[in-house]
Amino acid sequence: MKELGYQPNELARSLRSGKTFTIGLILPDNSNPFFAEISRGIEASAFEADYSVILCNTEDNQEREEFYIDLLLKKQVDGLIFVAAGDRSDSLYSLARRKIPVIIVDRNVPGPEVDAVLVDNIAGGLAAVRYLIQLGHRRIACITGPSNVTPSSGRITGYRKALDEAGIPVDEALLSQGNFRIESGEQIALELLQRPNKPSAIFACNDLMAIGAMRAANRLGLHIPQDISIIGYDDIELARYVTPLLTTVYQPKSTMGRVAVKLLIERIENIDRPKQVKILQPELVVRESCGAVA
Ligand code: RIB
Repeated sequence: MKELGYQPNELARSLRSGKTFTIGLILPDNSNPFFAEISRGIEASAFEADYSVILCNTEDNQEREEFYIDLLLKKQVDGLIFVAAGDRSDSLYSLARRKIPVIIVDRNVPGPEVDAVLVDNIAGGLAAVRYLIQLGHRRIACITGPSNVTPSSGRITGYRKALDEAGIPVDEALLSQGNFRIESGEQIALELLQRPNKPSAIFACNDLMAIGAMRAANRLGLHIPQDISIIGYDDIELARYVTPLLTTVYQPKSTMGRVAVKLLIERIENIDRPKQVKILQPELVVRESCGAVA
């Protein structure tokens, strides 16, 4: 076979088996290390199961998301792993109705009865803000993610719960909506840190925005954590390479990817199996970017 350069005919294999052994992966922003680490877990797990992966990046755009779902179905993928760009669920409904195997990961979507691999974002937000309160902080700003994705709303719920249980009233002026991208963290923090009554701590709902906030503090000549404490969320690899090292909330990214592939292959092999929802747990990771309130 090697001498003749023989290549098995994948099309013939697909026609025989009725499968393409291909998985579609739809992500909102593959430049974000969080999604890069998830897709790495998905690809590794799919490779071990003799599946290939087609990656589609929606740039947080729900119209582009619809386009890619249609494209992947035309390419006859055996199933999809789906990280939503927002909270619209009509395309998922159509997949569920057509009994197309699909797993939603990270961002829950209201409505369709599909398998899901999620993380307890309320617990993660609660742990982050409880930690800041234990350091004595009372004026804690929150740079949120987009309003139409469940991880951000879950973390905000955890933020509010931590303040409430400590008897600290929520100052709505300290909540600002970012977009999970680094620039939004920098711009929002520049505004927050130039206020006369600036916060003593910032909870950024993902590490990229936290790193943007760190740059804002540096630009204003503020020292971290002496002048401002900053905590992020995700625990991407970069969090261990910034100065000071970023305190954050760890998300089990590789596990999310592997569990998603396992559930998807089980669904491909038995379309009528009962729905499965896995809720994984985040974990506070204390490093150097938060300190006791001055
Ligand atoms: O960093 C990207 C964010 O969007 C992560 O926190 C993840 O939960 C995703 O929803």
